[in-house]
Amino acid sequence: MKVTVVGAGAVGASCAEYIAIKDFASEVVLLDIKEGYAEGKAMDLMQTASLNGFDTKITGTTNDYTKTANSDVVVITSGIPRKPGMTREELIGINAGIVKTVAANLIEHSPNTIMIVVSNPMDTMTYLVHKATNLPKERIIGMGGALDSARFKYRLAEALGAPISDVDGMVIGGHSDKGMVPLTRLATRNSVPVSEFISEERLDQVKEDTKVGGATLTKLLGTSAWYAPGAAVSGLVQAIACDQKKIFPCSALLEGEYGLNDISIGVPVVLGRNGIEKIVEIELNDAEKAKIQESAEGVRKTNGLLDL
Ligand code: 2OP
Repeated sequence: MKVTVVGAGAVGASCAEYIAIKDFASEVVLLDIKEGYAEGKAMDLMQTASLNGFDTKITGTTNDYTKTANSDVVVITSGIPRKPGMTREELIGINAGIVKTVAANLIEHSPNTIMIVVSNPMDTMTYLVHKATNLPKERIIGMGGALDSARFKYRLAEALGAPISDVDGMVIGGHSDKGMVPLTRLATRNSVPVSEFISEERLDQVKEDTKVGGATLTKLLGTSAWYAPGAAVSGLVQAIACDQKKIFPCSALLEGEYGLNDISIGVPVVLGRNGIEKIVEIELNDAEKAKIQESAEGVRKTNGLLDL
């Protein structure tokens, strides 16, 4: 299993690190446009191999896409991250051109690859990749919901005073402060609905804290987060590489599912060796349905800014 990660910044490097530590891929190629940067990150990571006990070979390259040839999975993290006070949507002007070029370069050398899009505004960048390439829809996956759900579980565990391993929950909808739809109704603590343990007001707070999860970190760090985004991507790559058939909320191109068409937005999908093997349509209540529609309107508005 060969994986390419484009962008050796904090998210790309964390992603490469978590993939390597989980030791399921034979090779990870890090690519960046900054001279020597990816090579340096790759060498530093390789020097952790004997300490962390992995055999994955990590190499770096300055913009040489021939080194990415025949990748089974490629991850696009390229572009600029948001600064405090910025929304993900504000990055579209710069990131759209970068993502389009990177996707074309990757496909030229790995026509059969599965592509994971991380760059923001992620749902719109994923839609752009769908429009700009000829890859089948199963092979283009936007990473947002896996990260947002991890942040949701963190906030749920905090509110419940429970270990995170006891908590389950999922966030669907757009990967934006306003567009996320944390499904509190379906969240559980060891199979028991979380509403059995905490008040509706506290759950509303969990929901709000989850939605601004990325913005909270951007304010604290001065730039956007990397550990949880990197770990979330590595989870998707592993599900594909190991044909796990695991369910993750991911940005997928919808054709009628959830009453939506011609949009890429976060919904639960089964991930396996073929990429998105199934879109899971869960029964939502009226309030949740309304939230998803509202979220889709937001994503469509950003999609409208694309020069397609
Ligand atoms: C986040 O931290 C990277 O969008 C990403 O939410």
